[in-house]
Amino acid sequence: MFTATTTAPVNIACIKYWGKRDTKLILPTNSSLSVTLDQDHLRSTTTSRADPTFTKDRLWLNGVEEEIKPVGRMATCIAEMKRLRKELVEKDSSAPPLSTYFVHIASFNNFPTAAGLASSASGFAALTASLAALYELPSAPTELSLIARQGSGSACRSLLGGFVAWNAGTLDSGLDSHAVQIAPETHWPDIHALICVVSDTKKGTSSTSGMQRTVETSPLLQHRIKHVVPQRMQDISAAILAKDFDRFAEITMADSNQFHAVCLDTSPPIFYMNDVSRAIIAVIEEYNRVGLLPENGGKRKAAYTYDAGPNAVIYAPAAHIKEIISMIVHFFPQQETFNDPFGLFGAAGVTAALAP
Ligand code: DP6
Repeated sequence: MFTATTTAPVNIACIKYWGKRDTKLILPTNSSLSVTLDQDHLRSTTTSRADPTFTKDRLWLNGVEEEIKPVGRMATCIAEMKRLRKELVEKDSSAPPLSTYFVHIASFNNFPTAAGLASSASGFAALTASLAALYELPSAPTELSLIARQGSGSACRSLLGGFVAWNAGTLDSGLDSHAVQIAPETHWPDIHALICVVSDTKKGTSSTSGMQRTVETSPLLQHRIKHVVPQRMQDISAAILAKDFDRFAEITMADSNQFHAVCLDTSPPIFYMNDVSRAIIAVIEEYNRVGLLPENGGKRKAAYTYDAGPNAVIYAPAAHIKEIISMIVHFFPQQETFNDPFGLFGAAGVTAALAP
């Protein structure tokens, strides 16, 4: 029995991936950039086993067996990893022929699946990393990101820590569509993430089908791809390297808003945010308006961002987190606060489940 266990954290995008130019290889229409959360908080842990006695590839998610569809994303990732192992064995004949054995894979999330937080990014990243460990592949994270990407686009970014860009690339093969680290987590440990669970129900339109509809129908997406994202990728990378939170926040919020505008520009329109999401935007905008006054330092103090659902992620420097939490709790009486603090880079943060 050959076995390996690895973990991968969730990442939250500041420049959003939304749109594929190749749905099979999962090649995006634009580059994106995210922050990988701390391993201690939101993560997937995956164990892979290979054994000559296994009779088929099998997968369990949080203890429940899931079907591995023949030409589905899971099967693609497993096949790609077996291919890399085969290449390794061809070079070193003393290595056991593990790629010829079936695998059993078990994956767990340490956050409530019902919390409405995306798990496909951490899930596919952990799957890829655990098979790489099982097969003792020397591949670098950027190389593995090419495979995790074919499981779920955003998963390619979870293979690296800190601030991570997914370069869209231009090749039809997708070989240049991979994740690269812009800066490690140690570069800017002062930045925290606060996750506000507005709704824990499953979203109506999946990312996969939603973005496809956007590609087919939204004129605004074409403008975004050509004229907005390339400059924003450069600007936010520069803001991260300079630890300029004000600029980082400005770009992050603008990009979240444009992503949701693009959803609204889709036909039929897609609504991911709800009234509570919009009220959180208003609270953070007001907080920043006050922060931007010259007598208060003239800088933004927090940034909201929303993925394909109503839950808010608020990025802020450590010094403001306490104030932001009390503000959120004041305006949105909580139903439940998870005991587990979901912070960024191991420091304080909370997850608040907000009453709708
Ligand atoms: C809004 O990576 O879940 O979170 O590639 O179809 O699996 P697929 O989509 P997915 O989309 C994530 C979209 C997003 C933005 C982002 O994370 O960049």
